[in-house]
Amino acid sequence: MQAVIEAVDFAVPEKRMANSEFPASLGTSDDWIRSHTGIGSRHIAEPGVATSDLAAQASQKVLEKAGVPAEDLDLILLATATPDFIGFPSVACIVQDKLGAKNAAAMDIVAGCTGFIYALETARAFVVSGSARKVLVCGADVLTRVVNWEDRNTCVLFGDGAGAVVVSADESEIERGILHSVLKADGSGADLLGRNAGGTRFPLIDGKADPIESFLHMDGRKVYNFAVKVVSEGIVDMMKKNHLCHKDIAWIVPHQANVRIIEAAAKRSKIPLDKFFMNIEEYANTSGASIPIAMSEMSSRGLLKRGDLILTFGFGAGLTYGGNIIRW
Ligand code: ACO
Repeated sequence: MQAVIEAVDFAVPEKRMANSEFPASLGTSDDWIRSHTGIGSRHIAEPGVATSDLAAQASQKVLEKAGVPAEDLDLILLATATPDFIGFPSVACIVQDKLGAKNAAAMDIVAGCTGFIYALETARAFVVSGSARKVLVCGADVLTRVVNWEDRNTCVLFGDGAGAVVVSADESEIERGILHSVLKADGSGADLLGRNAGGTRFPLIDGKADPIESFLHMDGRKVYNFAVKVVSEGIVDMMKKNHLCHKDIAWIVPHQANVRIIEAAAKRSKIPLDKFFMNIEEYANTSGASIPIAMSEMSSRGLLKRGDLILTFGFGAGLTYGGNIIRW
């Protein structure tokens, strides 16, 4: 039994904001943002649009593309760091209802920007163990709702979106699908990236925590150093474990957080930069959605051919990191 990706699709809000639209009072510029991150614009959810709305849009599109009726789904895995509600109900349950996937179990996976990679491996494990035959895996985030728009260190970096795949059981003899994954965590870096208030540690409802503490905070430099190390070493390790070299891999699909992280990781791992797909210029960092959005654009542009090997790699809050090797 193997777990194959039948289709991939995505949804982003129509509203697009270019770097030049940040107010002068923020003290940033198109030049700074492009030269430090590679970001040119981001898509922003309108007020009233929540993570489950984008997730349901992407999921509906991918189910149609795959020709899979919602009732055929056994499981919905929703990777997000920006749920509609704190803790419960899960976004996955809201999406299950929106889709009418009445036979599916549903749960969220919280692993920051690595969430989609964690979810893909979870889907594989359910499928190969025989616990599920059809799994919807969606990465969706509305990070623009939780950034402090007066903090230039963070608000320029993120965008909103959702990307989804259908993972199905496949018993054919030809090797395909999710072949290998590595999932890692380093909780000692938990304080480098997160939202301090609003949870059970510093609740907002007792009036003691400052609401400003519920905005996303990040030690950019430390996360940058962590990312370059784990991405460069992680990709090489995954290839080694599978007796592959970069020439065997058609594309590396990294988490789209910063072009400079990808460039530095390519240099360190001695893999040509043109092997790394990048679309951060248009969408900025969409967290759990970044890898499926990238895969979907690659698929529409004819860059993913049947039989190709692709390697995903992500990192994010937690800290978490990991990757998947997929035969398309
Ligand atoms: N415009 C202008 N200046 C800025 C901006 C901005 N948007 N942002 C920061 N600066 C300033 C800083 O204030 C600082 O000024 P100072 O020297 O006067 O104090 C200066 O630029 C340099 O700051 P650095 O932090 O050294 O800038 P750096 O080159 O490291 O770039 C960045 C900052 C882009 C945040 C980088 O560190 C980075 O990409 N880090 C990783 C971010 C990331 O990948 N996050 C993943 C999130 S994953 C998840 O799970 C959500």
